Amino acid sequence: MESVNVVFVGHVDHGKSTTIGRLLYDGESVTDDRVEEIQKYAEELKRRFEFAYFLDALEEERKEQMTIESTRVFFKGKNRLYTIIDSPGHKEFLKNMLTGASQADAAIVIVSAQEGIEEQTRRHVFLLKLLGIEHLVVAVNKMDAVRYQKEPFERIHNAMKEFLDSLGFDLDKISFVPISAIEGENVYRRSTKMPWAKKTLIEALDAIPIKSRELDKPLRFVVQDVYEVDGEKIVVGRVESGVLRKGAKGVFEPSGRPAIVQQIRVYEGERSEAKPGECVGVISSVIPRRGEVFGLAESPPKKVTEIKGEVVLLLDRLRKNETIVVKCGTAAVPARVQNILEKIDTETGAIVEKQPSVVDINEAALMVLSLREPMVVERYPDIPELGRFVIMKNGKNIGAGVALEVSS
Ligand code: GTP
Ligand code: MG
Repeated sequence: MESVNVVFVGHVDHGKSTTIGRLLYDGESVTDDRVEEIQKYAEELKRRFEFAYFLDALEEERKEQMTIESTRVFFKGKNRLYTIIDSPGHKEFLKNMLTGASQADAAIVIVSAQEGIEEQTRRHVFLLKLLGIEHLVVAVNKMDAVRYQKEPFERIHNAMKEFLDSLGFDLDKISFVPISAIEGENVYRRSTKMPWAKKTLIEALDAIPIKSRELDKPLRFVVQDVYEVDGEKIVVGRVESGVLRKGAKGVFEPSGRPAIVQQIRVYEGERSEAKPGECVGVISSVIPRRGEVFGLAESPPKKVTEIKGEVVLLLDRLRKNETIVVKCGTAAVPARVQNILEKIDTETGAIVEKQPSVVDINEAALMVLSLREPMVVERYPDIPELGRFVIMKNGKNIGAGVALEVSS
């Protein structure tokens, strides 16, 4: 069955975890013992049974599991599955930028009907725009707390529309639904308390047209590590775009070394090809280093030393000329903030200053980074998986960006 990646965003306490829990519960994606276990836990704490526990329980489970594939959490639509991506707490967001896990097809923006649009609502939506996520479902939650009245919903609906429009979103790709995650109203089940609601949350999600993963993009195989098994060197990495085929002739960048894919291996045995998102082992005619990227000879990975991109700072500030480390794919190289062209307000998307000398936490900017060594970075619009990068300062990931122009 087709699986669609969705990310949940929204201001603290507006109900992301509860909505996810509700989707898992009503979608019967959580097993019965799980429900009992969680209910027991809830009783112990003498608190009201809250769906948010599902997620916390799943979190625990996730920590215990090692492999990437099994960390996925699904819920069911009518005829497709949805994979939940962590909501962008700053650390998760930065981690996801690097692992590629954040390639969401759609986002659910949770806004509390009581509180309305708040600071984090706006910042998260700004990040969605930065990442090029176009399909949004704005779920106005806690409708029970406003006695299921249409008026508060309409107010948030209009304010949100105006905000999204100002950021440049295409409003045709965005829908609005009133829900009560805690009562399960209008999530899977049509609500009799809100007969005025046009559709349920799951109906809104199911209506999003999702283009199938593009296999016709240039091949990019990112090297994670090289292992030696019984005297044989195996290059382990992930296909980020395109299709990796046995026998492919290409090149590893930035070293520029030509290579031939002699074998593709997975745990179960040999394969003739691997698709985007798949981690495989490759027997190659040359042995690359971690951080290198393999592409076909006719469309080789871009080896660059300069990036012009939009950067958002989440955990520290940045000055012009400051030394940083830029991470992209599995590579990391020292770099310098060569120029800051304009500062962008992350709550409104407006350009607030030209040529600033410093960018603060929670601010974004268009800047030019010059890399001390060549690294593979693609233009975000061409190959988003390798067009995203993370900025590290003093050993800490502090922000992330997308590459709009690259040059060597
Ligand atoms: P963070 O992860 O801390 O950002 O919060 P969150 O967005 O995941 O919110 P969470 O689901 O933890 O819910 C926050 C609080 O709002 C909890 O006390 C929930 O019980 C409550 N809540 C969630 N959904 C609803 C709802 O539909 N109606 C009402 N009345 N309360 C809700
Ligand atoms: Mg939560």
